[in-house]
Amino acid sequence: MWSNCRRLLMALALGGTALVGLAPPCFAQLPAPGAVGKYNGAGSCAASSCHGSVQPKTVTHIFQNEYTIWAGQDKHANAFSVLSNPVSLRIGKILKIGRPDQAQKCLICHSLDVPKEKRAQTFGMEDGVSCENCHGPASGWLGPHTTANWPHMKSVELGMYDTRDLMRRSAKCATCHVGSQQQFVDHDMIAAGHPDLTFELGYFTKAMPQHWKRPQDMPWFEVRAWSVSQATQLSEALRRLSWRAGLPTWPEFSEMDCIACHHSLTMPEKSWRQELGYPGRRPGTAPWNASRYVVFRHLAEAVDPEAERQLGADIAKITELMSHPAGKGAEIAASASHGADLAGRIAQQLNTRSYDQAFTLRLLRAIAQDESIANQGERSAEQAYMSLDSLFDAYRTNAKPGDDPQVQAAIASLFQQLNDPSAYNAPRFAAGMQRVSALLGRQGSSAGGSR
Ligand code: HEC
Ligand code: HEC
Ligand code: HEC
Ligand code: HEC
Repeated sequence: MWSNCRRLLMALALGGTALVGLAPPCFAQLPAPGAVGKYNGAGSCAASSCHGSVQPKTVTHIFQNEYTIWAGQDKHANAFSVLSNPVSLRIGKILKIGRPDQAQKCLICHSLDVPKEKRAQTFGMEDGVSCENCHGPASGWLGPHTTANWPHMKSVELGMYDTRDLMRRSAKCATCHVGSQQQFVDHDMIAAGHPDLTFELGYFTKAMPQHWKRPQDMPWFEVRAWSVSQATQLSEALRRLSWRAGLPTWPEFSEMDCIACHHSLTMPEKSWRQELGYPGRRPGTAPWNASRYVVFRHLAEAVDPEAERQLGADIAKITELMSHPAGKGAEIAASASHGADLAGRIAQQLNTRSYDQAFTLRLLRAIAQDESIANQGERSAEQAYMSLDSLFDAYRTNAKPGDDPQVQAAIASLFQQLNDPSAYNAPRFAAGMQRVSALLGRQGSSAGGSR
């Protein structure tokens, strides 16, 4: 009944007719205000006249093939089914949690795992990470949002999660791709077989088959997206650290530089680590994983030097304490929490400021020139690579300088260096960054230099 009515609503709305004045029985089916905030499941969005068209349409401002793209191409749609593959079954066995596809520890990120009382109708966990994981519970807006000229913000008032807002969007991705006290991947899970969580919004957006249009009226949108999400993911990662540092099981290995423990050994004469000499820490300790800070630092410096100075002080404190992490949990938690607030405040500034070609080039150059990033370890190198890739893409999309296959090849060769993380070599990565930096020097001579 609800679904028949919904089909009718869809058909009418897509014919361009507003719902005002429609047959009252349909409205009788709309949820009472108390039902706002319930989840309907991906099937509710799947009709071909809604989001399940096979071909993109041009009738409304969206393509209407969002469901088809998600179901057919998006890894999120498989997130539940991977929980019963051999790797997951072994993770379940090692962690003694039974079947992962029934364990809340896994379902929380791999499905729409909401409490029973929040389910408007029965829907299957097998949908994996589906529409309402990102767009919020649909019961409040499912019917009305098909009305012609229905404003987006009205849906947000009725429970839709505002993924258009970049702070909220990146915070949403971070819930699963960075993790938190409520849902996390720790070293126990990683040692059992779970991939480590790394993230960069631009790079992961490129990897996700897109079911939306780029906003038309926002030049340099991609640079804003990269910037806001850099601040957000640092903030979320510091919050996560702050929580973990207070646990009885502290120290937690997954907060540290993985490859400091997981690299292969060489003859002393060939060790670049010994050559660098463990600056600022005791030899042989695993440093804090600084990847979410070392690249972001350049952005923060460009937009708010005073906030960056304070943030840098928190990070220096964390770095120092992490070289003797046992018993330092409370101090680490305090600095991490303070740093998380600062990064959150910088994210707000980044969400509202304006971006242009000169700013983008300045960031690209600052990152590529910073040799110290390479020395911070493989995860930092990876963050630098993803950022250079996203920012150079953004530069090409917005400034249209024409192809520069050399810069693109130099960035791509950074990626090749990360194929085998255990063999990561900092001086070699730094040399690759220098090549990118030299090639970038030729770009944007018409933009007139700084800022
Ligand atoms: C904090 C959220 C989170 C939790 C909790 C979580 N995962 Fe994941 N999982 C992810 C993310 C995000 C990815 C994708 C990582 C990437 O590619 O960057 C992933 C990937 C995987 C993969 C690899 C999938 C592939 O396509 O190869 C497996 C297997 C997996 N998870 C199993 C599990 C199991 C089993 C559990 C429970 C013990 C679990 N996950 C708990 C977030 C989570
Ligand atoms: C992993 C997160 C994620 C999942 C899962 C997801 N979306 Fe999206 N969706 C986004 C993001 C991010 C955007 C772009 C920002 C925006 O327009 O809100 C978007 C945009 C859209 C838009 C365009 C909105 C507009 O006004 O331009 C529609 C329609 C949409 N999604 C529908 C769906 C449907 C239907 C499903 C399930 C079949 C789905 N989405 C699953 C993240 C997701
Ligand atoms: C509810 C948790 C959740 C949210 C929210 C979420 N993801 Fe994911 N994401 C996952 C899981 C779990 C996987 C692994 C799925 C698999 O491999 O089957 C994944 C996989 C991916 C992948 C594929 C990675 C790979 O290795 O191929 C991309 C890209 C991605 N997510 C981007 C995003 C973006 C961008 C957002 C925010 C707009 C987002 N995700 C929000 C849980 C989530
Ligand atoms: C302080 C040292 C340390 C750090 C930091 C650390 N690990 Fe481990 N890791 C270990 C030890 C010890 C084992 C257990 C090895 C064994 O039993 O053979 C292990 C096991 C593993 C395994 C399973 C090994 C195998 O052969 O299958 C993986 C995968 C792994 N870690 C990945 C990571 C990742 C990814 C990170 C960063 C997020 C990380 N580790 C951080 C020490 C560390």
